[in-house]
Amino acid sequence: MHVLVTGGAGYIGSHTVLQLLEEGHEVSIVDNFSNSSPESIRRVNSLAGRSAHLRSVDLLNQQELTKIFADTQPDAVIHFAGLKAVGESVSEPLKYYRNNVTGTLNLLDAMEAVDCRTLVFSSSATVYGESTALPLIESTPRNATNPYGRTKLHIEEMLEELAASDPRWSIANLRYFNPVGAHTSGLIGEDPQGTPNNLMPYVAQVAIGRREKVHVFGGDYPTADGTGVRDYIHVLDLAAGHLAALKYLRESAGAHTWNLGTGTGSSVLEVIEAFARVSGKEVPYKIVERRSGDVAENYANAEKARLELGWKAEHGLEQMVEDMWRWQKGNPTGFGPIDAFGMTDEELDIFLNR
Ligand code: NAD
Ligand code: UD1
Repeated sequence: MHVLVTGGAGYIGSHTVLQLLEEGHEVSIVDNFSNSSPESIRRVNSLAGRSAHLRSVDLLNQQELTKIFADTQPDAVIHFAGLKAVGESVSEPLKYYRNNVTGTLNLLDAMEAVDCRTLVFSSSATVYGESTALPLIESTPRNATNPYGRTKLHIEEMLEELAASDPRWSIANLRYFNPVGAHTSGLIGEDPQGTPNNLMPYVAQVAIGRREKVHVFGGDYPTADGTGVRDYIHVLDLAAGHLAALKYLRESAGAHTWNLGTGTGSSVLEVIEAFARVSGKEVPYKIVERRSGDVAENYANAEKARLELGWKAEHGLEQMVEDMWRWQKGNPTGFGPIDAFGMTDEELDIFLNR
């Protein structure tokens, strides 16, 4: 297949592009590098031994996007491009609705124009809001609690309405639980800009000595050790879930929803302990106030994906932490700035098809 991947230079996108290339698919990437570096794709290409076609384009640029679809004529799209910082979405909601919702509308128009109607969308367990009925199953009523979450919820609804209106569409809403880990080569991984919002990258930066200690948000939750419990899932398992969904969509029209999680929860203290054990470093922490909007516990029922996609997560917490640590040690400051990329401006323009 020829798969167009939006946001393919980002964390989950780059791992998925690598698997698509390894499986022999042709891949075109559209990314504006607002939260990533083309260096990730240079490394993906070298790991795969073949190249994805990379285009530096913003989904908000409808004209350029339409042209790329006309030029590439993809069979299917995996749509990762989006902004994902919950706190920022509260202070700048319109930026989130514009980028995530309008960006998706532009994408759907560009797809229709070339008769491409197979789409895998990056949704999130955030659409379950503060639901307390565990484990979370796809039929749990949706209830997002912040603008980021509502962009995901609105897009899911929009895609369901689209598929209901026209049976030529095949759509997957994949609800990720907490993606962590990195490729086993240690060459690609998550490269958060500024202070990480999420637990695992924060703990990794404490272990490497970039930050002093982990602030544990709440020690009095009704969980075994009092700290928050989440369903961490290895990014390689998550990437494999996208390939399984694509395969399913080739034979099934309509809109489908699958949880991608392991079904098992780990507490904040368990994550910190695993990191200390794997890295051999001290990981100092301090229990502070709860973070507003956090739930005590959240983990997936991933049976639907197992039964329908034949997919299940294979990696446990120890492996997630080992891979994350290898990536963090080898790349203590992430991919580095674009000018450390080792290419002249002219070479970069050619690489990015500018
Ligand atoms: P990421 O920020 O690493 O990747 C997103 C990519 O999209 C980046 O490369 C960014 O430059 C690009 N992008 C953003 N807006 C764009 C635009 N308008 N035009 C073109 N490119 C644009 O994030 P990620 O962790 O890889 O997440 C991928 C998707 O999965 C996102 O939609 C995110 O909301 C969703 N998701 C992520 C998590 C998580 O914890 N990482 C959890 C649930 C859902
Ligand atoms: C967060 C977002 C969620 C988003 C997901 C993936 C919130 C409220 N939720 O989920 O919408 O889909 O990231 O991007 O922001 N923790 C600490 N110290 C830290 C960071 C986190 O103790 O410095 C704790 C949290 O309280 C939580 C656990 O670690 O119990 C995991 O947090 P995090 O990695 O931010 O993920 P979520 O809160 O599950």
